[in-house]
Amino acid sequence: MKIEIIDLKKRFKEEKYEILKSIKRVLKKGNLVLTPEVQRFEESISKFTGAKYCLGVNSGTDALMMSLWSSGITRGDEVITSPISFIASVSSIIHVGAKPVFVDVKDDLNINPDLVEAAITNKTKAIMPVHWTGRVCEMDKIMKIAKKHNLIVIEDAAQSMGSYYKNKHAGTFGEISAFSTHPLKNLNALGDGGFIITNEKKLFDKIKLYRNHGLKGRDNVEIIGVNSRLDSLHAEILSFRLKRLKKIILRRQKNINLYRKLINTTKISIIEDKKIEKNANVMFITLCEKRDQLQKYLKKFNIQSLIYYKTPLHLHKATKFLGYSKGDFPNAENITTKVLSFPHHQHLSRKEVEFVCKKINSFYN
Ligand SMILES: Cc1ncc(COP(=O)(O)O)c(C=O)c1O
Repeated sequence: MKIEIIDLKKRFKEEKYEILKSIKRVLKKGNLVLTPEVQRFEESISKFTGAKYCLGVNSGTDALMMSLWSSGITRGDEVITSPISFIASVSSIIHVGAKPVFVDVKDDLNINPDLVEAAITNKTKAIMPVHWTGRVCEMDKIMKIAKKHNLIVIEDAAQSMGSYYKNKHAGTFGEISAFSTHPLKNLNALGDGGFIITNEKKLFDKIKLYRNHGLKGRDNVEIIGVNSRLDSLHAEILSFRLKRLKKIILRRQKNINLYRKLINTTKISIIEDKKIEKNANVMFITLCEKRDQLQKYLKKFNIQSLIYYKTPLHLHKATKFLGYSKGDFPNAENITTKVLSFPHHQHLSRKEVEFVCKKINSFYN
């Protein structure tokens, strides 16, 4: 028995009938780009999240880049973000010509709002909080700082579909937010995909042009854009999967509750959810002592675990030019030596979670 971090084969088995029906429905119509299926998906995301506008694009990375670009972030600007994230949070900032400025994280793995003000300079234009693992950052504090210093807030909500903070959906706090529908996410397409949400018509209009080469109609290029459209097939599958998302989140939560109950060692800490938040747990990341040895041990029993990530963003070869060095963000650096993600997906049986917990306990005890 192999216990994988995510099981897309089982997902297909569970959804086979509906998925194949959706594919047939789209293919029969003979149109695959920017069709009503995409608009229907965008409308259903608006309804789900409470955002006025949504635009489907072809990845979370593009969603971030277009959010920055449409917000006017450009050469010489600084954007404050977290050193714990996927490289796309930072590369998107660099691609629009701006400079990422890191602020250390708290023990919940998210940016520490109490350290943000000290990082603001006269070049700071925006804050990009990353809702890591699905836990929404402390958005009331971040929005207060942004308002005080007249900064734009662009949420990296790639991992937070279905997450809430004080009853507001992730991505609805700042001016604009980027989501990913990569296969590893809880709302996932059949390949790469993503979407942007915003309440601002101005940003919506700009991105609508930008994602499709700046074209208005077939012949008028209003701005120089890119090709970043969400394919109709993905949109149709995502609309179907969105209807099942709440149930999937509950099934994942149930597994995490079981982990909390059965892990009987103090060598692993599982971050508590606060009452004011609802974490969709797109990833289940724990902090483990002797992390690398534990990972090797679990592998012997065919249990997959993943490290997200070993290297904080300021210590990569590619980000060296930003001028940071080891010791600059002690909390992030310490956390990255401990993070380990266990399988918690919706297709796991109780027996499988029990088996993983048994092996974790036997490693430490
Ligand atoms: C926090 C974060 N930001 C951005 C991205 C980029 O999304 P995509 O892979 O869809 O381009 C990811 C993807 O994993 C992510 O986790």
